[in-house]
Amino acid sequence: MNFGVCYYPEHWPEKRWESDALMMVEAGIEIVRIAEFAWAQIEPEAGRYQWSWLDRAINLLGKAGLRVMLGTPTAAPPIWLTRNHPDILRIDAGGQRRDHGTRRHYCPNSSTYHRHSQEIVSAMAQRYGTHPFVFGWQIDNEWGGGHTARCYCYNCVTAFQAWLKDRYGDIANLNDAWGTLFWSQSYMDWSQIHLPDQSIDKPNPSHILDFYRFSSDSYVAYQRLQIDLVRQYAPEHVVTTNFMGLYRDLDQFALATDLDFVTWDSYPTGNLDRWQKHLYLKQDELDASEHQFAYDVGDPYITGMAHALTYGLKGRPFWVMEQQAGAINWGSVNPGIRPGTTRLWTWHALAEGADTTVYFRWRSTLFAQEQYHSGLLQHDGSAGFGLADLALLRGEQQQLADIARQPNEADVALIFDFEDLWALEIQPHRSDYSYLKHLFVYYRACQRLGIQVDIIPKSGELNKYSLVLAPTLHIADEELAHTLKQYVIDGGHLLLGVRSGFKTANNLVTDQPFPGLLRLLIGATVRSWQSLPEQFGWDLSTNIAGLNGPATYWLEVLKPDSASVRALASYSSGPYSGQAALIENSLNNGKIYYHGWYPTDPQARAVIGHLVDKLGFSRIGDLPRGLIARKRGDAIILLNFTDVIQTANITGLPIKVPPRDVTVVNSLVSES
Ligand code: GAL
Repeated sequence: MNFGVCYYPEHWPEKRWESDALMMVEAGIEIVRIAEFAWAQIEPEAGRYQWSWLDRAINLLGKAGLRVMLGTPTAAPPIWLTRNHPDILRIDAGGQRRDHGTRRHYCPNSSTYHRHSQEIVSAMAQRYGTHPFVFGWQIDNEWGGGHTARCYCYNCVTAFQAWLKDRYGDIANLNDAWGTLFWSQSYMDWSQIHLPDQSIDKPNPSHILDFYRFSSDSYVAYQRLQIDLVRQYAPEHVVTTNFMGLYRDLDQFALATDLDFVTWDSYPTGNLDRWQKHLYLKQDELDASEHQFAYDVGDPYITGMAHALTYGLKGRPFWVMEQQAGAINWGSVNPGIRPGTTRLWTWHALAEGADTTVYFRWRSTLFAQEQYHSGLLQHDGSAGFGLADLALLRGEQQQLADIARQPNEADVALIFDFEDLWALEIQPHRSDYSYLKHLFVYYRACQRLGIQVDIIPKSGELNKYSLVLAPTLHIADEELAHTLKQYVIDGGHLLLGVRSGFKTANNLVTDQPFPGLLRLLIGATVRSWQSLPEQFGWDLSTNIAGLNGPATYWLEVLKPDSASVRALASYSSGPYSGQAALIENSLNNGKIYYHGWYPTDPQARAVIGHLVDKLGFSRIGDLPRGLIARKRGDAIILLNFTDVIQTANITGLPIKVPPRDVTVVNSLVSES
């Protein structure tokens, strides 16, 4: 595991730089990320570059023994650019132009902004592309942060029209694809198409989905414009950017394609605040017997799923580009941390496949928006808890490095698809329905069962996995149906869940019986569904151990169409009483399951546990809530995110893990 830090030399008097650099090296830091918001200091006026301070900073950091990662500074355009060219400013869905003074206020489709971005990126890459102390580049900062994924300005209208023309060729095709017969929406010409902003009623769902795709493609193209320049002038350097974990508005798989490796910004206490409502249903509320997480470590399943998604973007080790190392400033409570917390988070990242952790930030700022945000150093320059943890981690460096080299292998894959997510966000059909929540139930179940799970895209390599969980393959096409069938024929096991196969790529409902193109695969038809008010649920009858009713929230009823189909669970009350709720179909050597209701935590555990036991691959074993276990090679890393001792049974031996702490055991069990 390599350690790094985010540093802002421009925020501190130059006479402080040297002692900062020496302290970083002393703390075991090898990488320093700088300059990602320093455009105004590099180019204070159009075309007038001020390199000397940055040269001095890079040289000083490099001479101290640090390797520099430079950020391209385009997340924060300088005032001369916004005032001379207001057309670069983004407009939000309500029609309001966003002004200077924060960041990310630019439009990704502005040709003026493209030109100026090309100029600053070329200038930087030409200057530092072969610099001995610079080794890599972060492009921009957090694509889409601060709700900026979608811009509604005039540049975007024209670019969207061109994107649609390219996709559909003929306006008649677009009218067909969107179903514009409805409410007299038909378009006669590309120039008539607007952005699906705040219309009187909800805009057409096909129109919205295409706009989301277009917005995502806009950032992919804008990122590529920068990457090409960096690669031209810095051919030996690595290129990455920092994603935001479970961020939904841009297709992270598409953005990852052009990068050498991926990174994300991990703020566990803030992400609990930010994500909880998007990830848990009311029905997931804690069983009284389960222990709460410690209040100051975040939710390990949220952090873990974000790590897993980031790993899955390229199926390769990733970095945490910004690791929380103290209290943050943007949550609702912003709890402080304790000695040991930064170490716990760093081990968690390693366990999930990170090979580098860069802490945010070196020292707390004295001014501007993030004054209350902690760094490794406190405001006065004295060490915070994070820095003390770094000393502990340094002592564990050999063990961390050994584990980082171990394979991160999983038997189970969970398919994640941004277009499915968007389509369900556009038409959830019940206000609290969410694609992410549904995936998260299965993800948590795998974690609680001690199963290694990879997150992969729809186009991922399925054959590597004994079991593929696809809770919502909402949009299906022939190619997907064919790939899944082949996977099962070849001996794979596939679990599909509710609302799969309902939609076509144009976000229209399939004209086939549900689940549309996946129906032959499951060997059954989804006859109808019910979205139930909170207090209702129907009983289940099943032989699967631990699978108890009621089935609540969202239920579908299955009618087997083929003799190879077996019902593993049936409804035993309500209007579907006596009919199948969970089925198994066999195809050659493989099996397909359709899970016809949206499960609670224990139900998801019972179903996945049943499949895994049948498949016979090993799992670490049942884990109490808040205790995470990850296997890397022979090592099992146990991480306790609660404030009481938790026990894991590893090959029959109870291993106790202290609160907010990490224990590593060899899977053949010799404690280290
Ligand atoms: C990140 C951002 C950083 C800083 C940090 C504070 O989202 O990339 O620049 O603002 O949050 O937590």
